[in-house]
Amino acid sequence: LSLVVLVSGSGSNLKALLDACDNPLFPAKVLAVGSDKPAEGLAHAEQFGVPTFVVEPGKFQSKEHWAEVLLSNVLFHKPDLVVLAGFMRVLPEKFVSALSPKIINLHPSLLPEFPGAHAVRDALAAGATQTGSTIHIVDGGVDTGPVISQRTLHVTPGITEAELHEQIKEIEREHLVSIVREIAEGKLELERFGR
Ligand code: GRF
Repeated sequence: LSLVVLVSGSGSNLKALLDACDNPLFPAKVLAVGSDKPAEGLAHAEQFGVPTFVVEPGKFQSKEHWAEVLLSNVLFHKPDLVVLAGFMRVLPEKFVSALSPKIINLHPSLLPEFPGAHAVRDALAAGATQTGSTIHIVDGGVDTGPVISQRTLHVTPGITEAELHEQIKEIEREHLVSIVREIAEGKLELERFGR
């Protein structure tokens, strides 16, 4: 299974995938890593000799034009699957429908609870006693597409947002690698989830 991974941040989930794919027995390969900014996470790709591309929205007149260029960079590599691993921008419908259902996102809450960019903070603020990791197919909304898989985590009372996010990310890294493996092995068919 060939992948293009999009990141905006530190790329620890990307690093977990790159480490997994480094094992010749793992049934997936990262073809390229893209970002909407010169993200820290791109360094992980460079360490593995994986090509990178950065397409910054500020350099385009419209969001649509930005997304077209981003899409053509993705499609250039002909991936079987696109993985959003901490990619912090909403992609327009046209981008999503060109790839759907072969585009998945990783989110640090039990969707549909706490969508958006502050999922961990929002879960704490709401006094949630459990949270976790969700992997879902991307649609045109914000963290709204069909859920493929979730892992649950108990929220320790008094934990800080940063500590909780780190705990969730530990789960996410393992979760992402195992879902990519299941998709690659044909055990999980994205087409079955529709849109
Ligand atoms: C993850 O928690 C992911 O769910 C969220 O952003 C974070 C990315 O972390 N969308 P990293 O860049 O992979 O370390």
